[in-house]
Amino acid sequence: YSDPSQKIDYVFKVVLIGDSAVGKSQILARFARNEFSLDSKATIGVEFQTRTLVIQHKSVKAQIWDTAGQERMYRAVTSAYYRGAVGAMLVYDITKRQTFDHIPRWLEELRNHADKNIVIILIGNKCDLEDQRAVPTEDAKEFAQKEGLFFLETSALESTNVEDAFLTVLTEIF
Ligand code: GTP
Ligand code: MG
Repeated sequence: YSDPSQKIDYVFKVVLIGDSAVGKSQILARFARNEFSLDSKATIGVEFQTRTLVIQHKSVKAQIWDTAGQERMYRAVTSAYYRGAVGAMLVYDITKRQTFDHIPRWLEELRNHADKNIVIILIGNKCDLEDQRAVPTEDAKEFAQKEGLFFLETSALESTNVEDAFLTVLTEIF
């Protein structure tokens, strides 16, 4: 599936954004290394990981950027974070209403700093915690439709839809 010796046809930069603790880093860990940690520490600064996959017979190197949801970034960092990004994953936690209510702000930041053709997917993470759900799937689906975003609910813990979420974005960029 991932052969490091193969030639790379495309490099796609994708950014992860959303409030603190929604699971951005664990979504990335699941996608890049098939790992998950329950005591994940808050991200400091900016990190990225890559994974090479084959899409429509071309090898695509996905370079996924991750940053802290908590502190507002400095202007200069914000621009650098979004520069060259062709995809964005806008993540909230289905058990924390506030993280969904903040999505319009993240979308605004994205629209202010990123390329206007950027492919965006809205992600409701932690769908394994159905008994603690605070955001109905329908609300998110409706919002995504209105804003022209792809939408999926994921669980980094159980691996649900994580692969699909990345493939949706990468295939659409393609
Ligand atoms: P910041 O780096 O502060 O912006 O947070 P983050 O969005 O990167 O969150 P992180 O990935 O560190 O996850 C926060 C907490 O949620 C950790 O305790 C994770 O183990 C947990 N978590 C992440 N994804 C899931 C999930 O799908 N299900 C459950 N139950 N917990 C999750
Ligand atoms: Mg993080």
